[in-house]
Amino acid sequence: MSARGSTVFVTGATGYVGGDVLRRMLERDHDVHAYALVRDLERWPAAAARLGAVGARVTAVAGDVAQPGLGLTGDARARLAEEASVVVHLAADTTFSRPLAEARQTNLDGTRHLLDLIAGWHQLRRLAHVSTAFVAGCRTGAVPEDAGRPTTDWVNGYEQSKHEAESLVRSSGLDWVIFRPSTIVCDSPVGAVSQVNAVHRALRVYHHGLAAMMPGTESSPVDVVTLDYVAGAVARLAASDGLRGATLHLCAGRGAYPLGALLDATYAAWARDAGWSRRGIPRPALTDLATYRLFERSIEETGDERLRRVTRSLSHFVPQLAAPKTFDTTTADAALGGPAPVVESFWPRMLASLADAWSPTARAAA
Ligand SMILES: NC(=O)c1ccc[n+]([C@@H]2O[C@H](COP(=O)([O-])OP(=O)(O)OC[C@H]3O[C@@H](n4cnc5c(N)ncnc54)[C@H](OP(=O)(O)O)[C@@H]3O)[C@@H](O)[C@H]2O)c1
Repeated sequence: MSARGSTVFVTGATGYVGGDVLRRMLERDHDVHAYALVRDLERWPAAAARLGAVGARVTAVAGDVAQPGLGLTGDARARLAEEASVVVHLAADTTFSRPLAEARQTNLDGTRHLLDLIAGWHQLRRLAHVSTAFVAGCRTGAVPEDAGRPTTDWVNGYEQSKHEAESLVRSSGLDWVIFRPSTIVCDSPVGAVSQVNAVHRALRVYHHGLAAMMPGTESSPVDVVTLDYVAGAVARLAASDGLRGATLHLCAGRGAYPLGALLDATYAAWARDAGWSRRGIPRPALTDLATYRLFERSIEETGDERLRRVTRSLSHFVPQLAAPKTFDTTTADAALGGPAPVVESFWPRMLASLADAWSPTARAAA
């Protein structure tokens, strides 16, 4: 089965990953038509323009996954039920600091509303659900691509709500495939960064010398990937034969960067700037999570407001480094014919793009 000739229904197409997945699906198969669920139709023309010429084959339908029936009109619902054969679900609240109850509204209830809606669709052949590798939460060691040993501890509400959504998909009775990307840090191995996320914000904090400590060990794997790898994989495999009920880690896996080596390479790259080097900012000390929590508490009690804000923002993300894990990528590698790019191969170019974006000239032009 391929997406050829299909009508695809995509959620999250105005987002970073969804837009690229949709563009690639349309470019791969010239007879694919798509419906995109869009919360604010006034913002759709800008998103459609990013799709280029293939955007002409997309019909935007107004809706919100947080509402039962996705808030679709009766007409849109009837058309989708008649026509859609592949559903690609990417819509999510990706804010790590969101309280669990709020994250669930989009990520868990949103997935439930989607499943309820599509259960009765006449042409439906496949649901491709985009999850995250970090549904593994605080688990350590090798993480398999299946549902695996249940985890009961997560770093943030995003991870937990995405885990819960996966469970709904697994028990839906539909023909599903689950994709679990790790963190996307740049658009391609060329290194351009068009979506700033928690990794970039943490790097900025360390670049400013505002965080003396971080959890983790020298060997903690840092698993990050590029958008072209993730979106290319989802677009190619969403409707693929043989993947019914499969879970694929779209991760660097064994190509992850050990934290110590990553920090050394990062500091070496920054130190080439004489101005930064003169400031004598040390590499952050690596500690266990308990010590890091004490550090956080001391900042809360004695630090200034800026440090408190910085440390709070990191607390939704960096503790993941204290749960070192290696994502198994056997199923993804077999389906794609090879592994994701090794992190070390694109990390320096990603850093160079960030440095350009942070430079005083870029700031003045922005
Ligand atoms: N980026 C990564 O590093 C990464 C890594 C692993 C997994 N993922 C997964 O990949 C998917 C896409 O992530 P992303 O980085 O592209 O996120 P993003 O840029 O924040 O985009 C999120 C998308 O979801 C839509 N959305 C949010 N709430 C919605 C709602 N209530 N109803 C309908 N649509 C809603 C947004 O629409 P609006 O434009 O209206 O806000 C947007 O299109 C997510 O499922 C995420 O968990 C991403």
